[in-house]
Order: sequence, then C-alpha cells, then structure tokens
Amino acid sequence: MITVTAATGHLGRLVVADLLERGVPAGEITAAVRTPSKAADLGVRVVEADYDRPETLAPAFAGTDQLLFISGDTLEQHQNVVDAARAANVGLIVYTSGPKAETSSITLMSGKHARTEQAIVASGVPYVFLRNGWYLENYTGQIDQFLGTGVVLGAAGDGRVSAAARVDFAAAAAAVLLAPEPGSTYELGGDQAFTMSEMAAEISRQSGKPVVYRDLPEAEYAQTLAGFGIPAPFAEVLANADHGLSVGDLFVDSGDLHRLIGRPTTTLADAVAAALKTA
Ligand SMILES: NC(=O)c1ccc[n+]([C@@H]2O[C@H](COP(=O)([O-])OP(=O)(O)OC[C@H]3O[C@@H](n4cnc5c(N)ncnc54)[C@H](OP(=O)(O)O)[C@@H]3O)[C@@H](O)[C@H]2O)c1
Repeated sequence: MITVTAATGHLGRLVVADLLERGVPAGEITAAVRTPSKAADLGVRVVEADYDRPETLAPAFAGTDQLLFISGDTLEQHQNVVDAARAANVGLIVYTSGPKAETSSITLMSGKHARTEQAIVASGVPYVFLRNGWYLENYTGQIDQFLGTGVVLGAAGDGRVSAAARVDFAAAAAAVLLAPEPGSTYELGGDQAFTMSEMAAEISRQSGKPVVYRDLPEAEYAQTLAGFGIPAPFAEVLANADHGLSVGDLFVDSGDLHRLIGRPTTTLADAVAAALKTA
C-alpha cells in the first residue's frame, strides 16, 4: 500500500494520478487527507489524516508500505506525522523536504525541513528525502499580475533559481515510491536555472508586453508584500526565501530530478507559454 498525505493539494493530486498512470491498482493507493470530501474524485481509497489531529494519523497510515509525506505548515504537525508513521509501522517515509535543507540560509529550509528530516532519522523509520526545489508555478501563477503591472518584484538579486514544474516533482515522487532506495536524499531542481530578470525577459518576449524585474532590499520587499495584503509573518518568509535565492540557496545542479523522471524537466519557456494561454 502506498499512502499519499495532503493528496487533495496540487502536488498530491499529481502524484496519485501519476501512480495510477504507471499502473498501480487504485486499491493499493490511499489518499490520507484533511478533507475527505475533496478527495472523492481521486479514484483511490480515501482516509482522514489531519496533521493537527494526531488521533487521525496512525489509523490512516495502518498497512502502509510507502508513505509519501507531503510537507505541511509547522514542525509540530510534522512531528505528529512522524510519530504516527512509527506507531503504524510504516515501511518507508518519503518526505518532501527543501533544497540544501541542512545548510540553507532560508529559514523555511533550516527550520521546518531540516528539523523534520532529523525527526524522521531519529524515528528509525526508513526514509527517502525529496528536497523539492521551488515550483515554476510560484512564478507562472502570478503572470496576470506581472503583465498587468509590467513589473516582477523581488529581493533575489542576480541569483539563479532551479525552479521546476509540480508535475515533474510529482513524477519524481512516483518513481521513488515504486523503486525506493532507503537512506537516499535527492536535491531536486529544474535543468535550467534562471534569474528573475531572465524570467521577466521571457514573459516579455512571449507576451509582447514590457515586463522588467525590480530588485528590492529584503526588508522593503517584505513590507511591499505585506502592503499587498499578505500577512506580515508570511511576507517575511517569502522575502527571506528570495534573499536565499540571491545567494544561491535555491540553485540545484545535481541532475537528480532529470534522472528520476527520465526526461528533461519542464522549461521556463514552456511553463510561461502554458500560463499565457490561460492569462
Ligand atoms: N516547493 C515550493 O515551491 C512550494 C511552494 C508552496 C508550498 N510548498 C510546500 O509543498 C506542499 C505541497 O504543495 P502543494 O502545491 O500541493 O500545496 P497546496 O496545493 O496548497 O496543498 C496543500 C495541501 O496540504 C493540505 N493540508 C493543509 N493543512 C493540513 C493539515 N492540517 N493536515 C493535513 N493536510 C493539510 C491541504 O489539504 P486541504 O485540501 O484539506 O486544504 C492540501 O491538500 C505545501 O503544503 C507546502 O508545504 C512548496
């Protein structure tokens, strides 16, 4: 049995679909989700698993050989999942971590992801860490705004981000779930890293509209995001991540994603083209 947590989210849905496409019988996949009513269309077994309600977790994981643990919001939630996986005798935890979790200057990585990796190792449950890089969709999801204002704002300087499409991270997760090598850590990113200026230029080139990148100091970028209505603590997390990007903490050149999915990763150009079709 393969169990996928947070399977109602963008990434989890893609993983379930990929497993089914690869021929895994629906009866051998469990979607362990916070909101079961949202999972009816997944076409697999559904159980409740809310990271904030530990009592739901061990029963949800019972009989699981491979658990894809898709990250949530807090370390406390993650400890709940790890404790339940151990209690349920899960055979393997595949955890979606973050790039360079142990050494990154990005608080999200050094805090939540690195500590969760440590908790998993300490649990004694066999594991694989998928250190997923930034989603291309973090950018293409804002394409209407970029086109409307003509500006991409950030604090990323000339840093390069190895962003990749969720569908590629999902394919990597499915590949690992079906042929895991316990104890492995994969640094996952797109084949071609790009700067924010290069991304703005690509959007401009394809849309025919002027779009430029404007770099701000980290604190000013956080304030600007908060001014757009993003809660201040989250605005700071995003600005901190952009600063990490500027110093190379979201740059990944391992080739692991390409190898795991057995094909080149989705390019920025293709992701922009797809986003412009619906913009
Ligand atoms: N690499 C990146 O660039 C990047 C960017 C954003 C996020 N992330 C991380 O990657 C994860 C997956 O990405 P995604 O695109 O699939 O995110 P998403 O579409 O926002 O989905 C989030 C999922 O988390 C579930 N969830 C929220 N709170 C939960 C709880 N208390 N217990 C159990 N499940 C809970 C949601 O369930 P409901 O359907 O019930 O709401 C949903 O299924 C995110 O949760 C986040 O930790 C990574």
